[in-house]
Amino acid sequence: MADTATHAAESSPAPAMTHATHAATPAASPSASARPAPARIDPYRLRTDFPILATANRFGKPLIYLDSAATSLKPRAVIDAVDAYNAEYSSNIHRGIYEIAERATAAYEAARASIARLINAREAAEIVFVRNATEAINLVAYSWGRRNIGRGDTIVLTEMEHHANLVPWQVLVQEKDGDLEFVPITDDGLLQLEVYEALLHLRPKLVAFTHVSNMLGTINPVRELTEMAHAAGALVLIDGAQAVPHAPVDVQAIGADFYVFSGHKMLGPTGSGALWGRRELLEAMPPFMAGGDMIREVHLRRSDWNEIPYKFEAGTPDISAQIGMGAAAEYLMGIGLDGVQAHEQELTRYAMETLRREVPGVEIYGPEAEARGGVVSFNLPGIHPHDVAQILDRSGICIRAGHHCTMPLHERFDLAATARASFNVYSIPGEIDALAVGLREVVRIFGR
Ligand SMILES: Cc1ncc(COP(=O)(O)O)c(C=O)c1O
Repeated sequence: MADTATHAAESSPAPAMTHATHAATPAASPSASARPAPARIDPYRLRTDFPILATANRFGKPLIYLDSAATSLKPRAVIDAVDAYNAEYSSNIHRGIYEIAERATAAYEAARASIARLINAREAAEIVFVRNATEAINLVAYSWGRRNIGRGDTIVLTEMEHHANLVPWQVLVQEKDGDLEFVPITDDGLLQLEVYEALLHLRPKLVAFTHVSNMLGTINPVRELTEMAHAAGALVLIDGAQAVPHAPVDVQAIGADFYVFSGHKMLGPTGSGALWGRRELLEAMPPFMAGGDMIREVHLRRSDWNEIPYKFEAGTPDISAQIGMGAAAEYLMGIGLDGVQAHEQELTRYAMETLRREVPGVEIYGPEAEARGGVVSFNLPGIHPHDVAQILDRSGICIRAGHHCTMPLHERFDLAATARASFNVYSIPGEIDALAVGLREVVRIFGR
């Protein structure tokens, strides 16, 4: 059984994620050699925190969840935090002058402080609550973008962006008559830094890139990319949706201007997310949405805006989801993100080795395990990923199949779709063994 499996891959700490040309850590934290080995996490013990892992599918097969890059499972601590709000102190925030409303406000603001601590923001006021990473990027594109991007201005993106970090910029430059440029990627899924350097000669106003690719798993050298962009006079937005749940992230060490992520990928509830921005930038930006809570004073013909972050939080937010996201941040910090990163890197290496050894003809995309997060996208020759996912589902194995909201990236590799297995703190080698067995069965069924 998957959750009782043990394997040699669990027995030694993973080396820090580095890459010869990228030489980066996902966290922009001190170099691996200067750091003590991370405290190991025990995924078998952690699994008992996730009630859904005790469930089975309609064929009675236990859940083998390998789709954490789409959304993560939720631990009891998060479920309890959401339940407690609904059961014990359901009320609106920032308004009520009675006990449960004060408790709700305190819990909501405590969640903000936890999330600030998770990414080492200078202050909680630099954390704007949003529904997800997509909303955070749209907020910046509308608010900062519409004030700062004009005719002929350039924004530099990469070819590996999720649609969330592509389409909002397309909409912006179409409206403002600006330009988009793209950093291409190598065949093994790394950014071509020499082209990036050349594109910076265009003096872009903004550079936006993903910290970790949700399709290739590539960990980008965010600190280096940020330094180069700043030297060219550009601001930097980083999409951390696939990084924050999986490794220590320090926004001050990275030095970027905006950093976005979703709660539901980091063990928190759907409907929660965060935009981090430097105070002076957020203060200079106009509101994204207008209405209650984001104002200081309202007159019939004009209003004054509230201070940050409330200026960007119009209307009643998803209070319980943000409280749950705060609980998720505490849970992750309690486990230790160095250990999470080491665990997922070991698992990724084990997955790549196992699939290559056990599954005839499997093609895996992206860099080797040292330079990637816990995401493995692959194809079986001549078999559509949807068929692969459907057959695996019978065995209780959940993987993703499709373009993973990265259509241009799939085009770059001349692919219509891929299958993707992705990991989190509760993932274990036995689940990868089960995946390999399932994939061999798919190959057998299709007679390849
Ligand atoms: C790298 C990356 N960026 C952004 C997103 C968008 O996240 P959300 O749908 O939570 O807004 C995702 C979701 O898969 C992602 O993987």
